[in-house]
Amino acid sequence: MKELIDKLYETNSLSPEELKILIDNRNPEVAEYLFEKARAVRVENYGYDVYIRGLIEFTNYCKNDCYYCGIRRSNCKANRYRLTKEEILECCQVGYDLGFRTFVLQGGEDEYFTDEKIIDIVDSIKTRYPDCALTLSIGEKSYKSYKAYFDAGADRYLLRHETANPDHYRKLHPKAQSLENRKHCLYNLKIIGYQVGCGFMVGSPYQTTDCLVEDLIFIKELEPHMIGIGPFIPHKDTPFGHKEGGSLELTLFLLAIIRLMLPAVLLPATTALGTIHPRGRELGLMAGANVVMPNLSPKYVRKKYMLYNNKISTGDEAAESLNDLKKRIEAIGYQISVSRGDHKSVLVEELVF
Ligand code: 5AD
Repeated sequence: MKELIDKLYETNSLSPEELKILIDNRNPEVAEYLFEKARAVRVENYGYDVYIRGLIEFTNYCKNDCYYCGIRRSNCKANRYRLTKEEILECCQVGYDLGFRTFVLQGGEDEYFTDEKIIDIVDSIKTRYPDCALTLSIGEKSYKSYKAYFDAGADRYLLRHETANPDHYRKLHPKAQSLENRKHCLYNLKIIGYQVGCGFMVGSPYQTTDCLVEDLIFIKELEPHMIGIGPFIPHKDTPFGHKEGGSLELTLFLLAIIRLMLPAVLLPATTALGTIHPRGRELGLMAGANVVMPNLSPKYVRKKYMLYNNKISTGDEAAESLNDLKKRIEAIGYQISVSRGDHKSVLVEELVF
């Protein structure tokens, strides 16, 4: 296995067959070797900096019905909410004062938030905080809508592809949603000029090693700036409420593979990872991740944005958790960076002009 890891380290790629062998034959010793390489590559590219993103979950209404997700349309037990523009701006102010220079507006696919409303929110945030990056994570939209948000000032867009295997995609989503459109959206976002993030859940129901290999091959082909992966965690009020969750161990292994495949990628140690293990996020950073996304949503809505059960950071204020996080990150030899934390390729462009 070490030869395969060396090859991945040197060439940033492996064939599908080799990826499958590596994943299926992993063990703690192989994993430790892989993590060492992943950390080295991460330090070469971004030093010891950990970028922070302030996550603002501004609506949990969603027109989609993904079988795994706690805010799916059919979950009548979900307590729905929407933040007003003023509340969103208030979250940004709290975040700005804490040192956040990236805000991530995330929500379900909520038709109440028309393009006009989103554009107004984007414009207000960028006017008030011109030194900050703004990331949108609001699902599948038309090229025209994506372009309009970009022209209003949005810098980045997160849209997890969820799985790159069409049959697997159909097992996770109702017919109205297709992998084809999801991928089409991701390519549109790239063409428009966003820093783009895709991603998938690890250990989602019906996922096989072949699915994971397809995810990795798709990622290599798309070449996104960011990749969000985290373990699947069942939510009791969904059709997958009794399915088994994804493992910490496999998630860490995949984070490290991804770091070696795309050395300069922005890779968060996700909330889901922090949820399944008390030190999940630190372990993610030790496996090659370099981003964390603390929650900036108002305290009174946090428990309502439940994509899965037992989600962390539903209680304490962002301020408290940030101090705690800072200490945890420093304890493992890294430091929080107060900067926009752009992808390396974007910084290079800025230097050139
Ligand atoms: N477990 C883990 N991740 C989930 N997501 C949605 N539901 C779950 C779940 N039950 C992830 C999806 C989505 C992102 C916002 O959260 O990958 O894209």
